[in-house]
Amino acid sequence: MTALEKINSPPSRLGGTALYDWDYLVQEDRAHRLIYTDPTIFEGEMTQIFGGTWTYLAHESEIPNENDFITRRMGLRPLIVVRDADGKVRALYNRCTHRGTTLCRWDKGNTKSFQCPYHGWNFLNTGRLRGVPWPDGYAEDMRDPKYNLAQVPQVESYRGFIFGTLNMDALPLTEHLGAIAKIIDEWLDRNPGGKVVVCEANRFRFKGNWKLAYDNSCDGYHVAYSHRSLLETENRFAGENAKGMAYYRNSPDTQPMYMRYTGRGNHFKDKRPNLEKRPGGLWALESAHPGMEHYEAEFLQRYGDRAFSLLDLAGSEPVNINVFPNFSLLGNHIQVFEPLGVAETNAIWYGTMVVNDGTLPDDAVTDINALRMRTQEGFPNFGEVDDIANFEQIQRGLMAVEDEWVYMHRGFGIPGRVKQNPDGTITAPATDEAFMREHFKEWKRLMKGPQNLAITREP
Ligand code: FES
Ligand SMILES: [Fe+2]
Repeated sequence: MTALEKINSPPSRLGGTALYDWDYLVQEDRAHRLIYTDPTIFEGEMTQIFGGTWTYLAHESEIPNENDFITRRMGLRPLIVVRDADGKVRALYNRCTHRGTTLCRWDKGNTKSFQCPYHGWNFLNTGRLRGVPWPDGYAEDMRDPKYNLAQVPQVESYRGFIFGTLNMDALPLTEHLGAIAKIIDEWLDRNPGGKVVVCEANRFRFKGNWKLAYDNSCDGYHVAYSHRSLLETENRFAGENAKGMAYYRNSPDTQPMYMRYTGRGNHFKDKRPNLEKRPGGLWALESAHPGMEHYEAEFLQRYGDRAFSLLDLAGSEPVNINVFPNFSLLGNHIQVFEPLGVAETNAIWYGTMVVNDGTLPDDAVTDINALRMRTQEGFPNFGEVDDIANFEQIQRGLMAVEDEWVYMHRGFGIPGRVKQNPDGTITAPATDEAFMREHFKEWKRLMKGPQNLAITREP
């Protein structure tokens, strides 16, 4: 049994979300600038969104062994995501219960306990207070559970992806993911053994609201313009063979790719139908990276007919899968958005490696992962910078107080363009903003709602 503590009130300055007219601030076709600029709305989001719904925390491969931990955040809360001695994954608040300092200052490691750097209180990795220096200075019994670390009460994994929520009424994670779980399955199942291991990351920080990144996560409208230099670089030596994101160049909405909204703020953009389905089809799309010709020749020599299906494992999967509010699978990356303030956000691109499930030659796996390092450098370095420039320039534009609205109505009101599917999902052409209109309905639902939020502590 763990002790649940109900969180009594939303942040005090918000004074109840009723102060805002959410239906005015977010309308069917437009959103008010305040939702990106108002510190009080941001403070509300840190509880209602990053608290009220499942938030991505970490990947199981980052804490594979007992007593492994990694420090992360859920909204602004610092967390220690740990696999305890019994193998249970917990999300402990990285906040000493004595006077509130950050308990663990390391990014990751392996330990059975954490000692606070301030006065030396010592906590087991289950969150329980193990002991305090010179306990005879306390009149009361320090084994009271209120001194154990706070924990996220609901932590669940879906095929290695660890999510947490404070919402005691949240749907089980698999149900919450709904139709997008199948797309995550497909993303994983193309890899040997249906899994990946997370490596280090490209880390960006931008001066803009976190939603600007999520609003862009399924945006097929900007590619030909914002990423023009990357598109041209990718295709400079490609001749007839379109590379990289070339299918955005001329008339993206006539391509077979599409965008689909699957509910709960989640959506994906599927560019896989643009591809030739054959071994090497994905590899052929990959733009020039250092050393790739050498690896290709080597693979052909070593593995003959099998070479191209192996090289496909180094190619970037052409799908963007977005789980509201902070998680994307993009190419072979796991991208995570971390709000730092109303106008400051981290955008982190974790690379992934494949592992040998016993069906591949060992040296092929090593080389595929070396190549994946190269293919995964491309977009963060040459594409993300374009996106971040847009996010910062939007934040700047939204400082113009009298000009209040941003529009998201591309594809809205054109009969037959946005399709409601029998399973409740919504499909639209790749450049439509239907995904944004839909994820804002979820944002609004969460911001409006009284929520049953709680933390827990070991008893
Ligand atoms: S703040 Fe942690 S022991 Fe004092
Ligand atoms: Fe982009």
